[in-house]
Amino acid sequence: MTFSVKKVRQNFPVLTQQINGHPLVYLDSAASAQKPVQVIERESEFCLHQYAAVHRGIHTLSSVATRMVENVRHQIAQFIHAQSDEEIVFVKGTTEGINLVANSYGRKFINNGDNIVITEMEHHANIVPWYMLAEHIGCEIRIWPLDENGELDQSVLSSLIDSRTKLLSFTHLSNVLGTVNPVREIIKQARKLADEQGAQLHILVDGAQAIMHKKVDVQKLGCDFYVFSGHKLYGPTGIGVLYGRKSLLDAMPPWEGGGAMIKHVSLQTGITYAESPWRFEAGTPNTAGIIGLGAAVDYVSSIGLDEIKQYEQELMDYAITGLKEINSLKLYGPEQRQGVIAFNLGRHHAYDVGSFLDQYGIAIRTGHHCALPLMEHYQVPSMCRASLAIYTTKEDIDVLVAALQRIEKLLG
Ligand code: ALA
Repeated sequence: MTFSVKKVRQNFPVLTQQINGHPLVYLDSAASAQKPVQVIERESEFCLHQYAAVHRGIHTLSSVATRMVENVRHQIAQFIHAQSDEEIVFVKGTTEGINLVANSYGRKFINNGDNIVITEMEHHANIVPWYMLAEHIGCEIRIWPLDENGELDQSVLSSLIDSRTKLLSFTHLSNVLGTVNPVREIIKQARKLADEQGAQLHILVDGAQAIMHKKVDVQKLGCDFYVFSGHKLYGPTGIGVLYGRKSLLDAMPPWEGGGAMIKHVSLQTGITYAESPWRFEAGTPNTAGIIGLGAAVDYVSSIGLDEIKQYEQELMDYAITGLKEINSLKLYGPEQRQGVIAFNLGRHHAYDVGSFLDQYGIAIRTGHHCALPLMEHYQVPSMCRASLAIYTTKEDIDVLVAALQRIEKLLG
């Protein structure tokens, strides 16, 4: 199917509004993507006609809702090419997925004196849970630094992995720089080093930003865990996915206790837990969110991830060419970036630039982007970030570039 941004935009009525007297230019999809009517309608249809508690009732509606939720688990497994549906855990989002791994895998398999390797380009969601774990068990956190291009130099990995390395956790795509990490190659090399050192290494990939821009095949990548959020994939907020290799999930203890995650509870003989993935899904899940996520996966699949990637690449090239024409604009990150463009305009604080753009109906993200170590690396308090999505147009980019030129003229 030929990609048509005009057709795509018809599915996003939110984009047709005026903000501050100007047509909305939404360039903040990396923070949260807008939802197509297909997602909103599927979720609403479910709430209107099929809603009931799942995994609990024998009545018809509960069985229908349970089947629908489990169908989405199957759909997600196919979408990221997991080996089985039981490798898919529904969580609130990327953040909860990483916290689950830290609290379950981490507390069981990582000991005092072991170490965890993360990178300098991580979002706080892939930093803070590991430091919290380290405080609790006394393990070491090792940082894989960025090179001068905003990329990871693979030759550094051999100085970070030793016999006590239990986890390597890194992002597929930087939420600030747009750096696409060569996940497969990194994992191959990390496993080779771990084998040489005799380390029991596992690998987590944070897919929060990558999932909306590229095809993900967890088996090809070779990771043990992959996490992402529904709301960045044009789906609902409050729902996300943790993929975990089945043998690993089976060896991990539950982290939250409650209903639905047990086999049996006896005040006399004790508690036994459900099989994975259900043992990690305590309490009533975000059922409508799961259904909406299924609709989001259908939606992007109907367009095609390859088509999306190609369209967004053209858009990225167009945007970079335009932005480079602004004298005082400094870009951050490698030449080859995907999805996001980080920049600063002269010496102006990103908040000032963002507020000015908002007056023209242009929405970008400003601040530290939940990546303070990256701000430290570049020695800036904040950056502006424009992000691209399937509904972004070249006209959106033109409006952004013209507004930035206006700011430059006005403020110097
Ligand atoms: N993680 C989201 C972002 O980068 C919120 O904007």
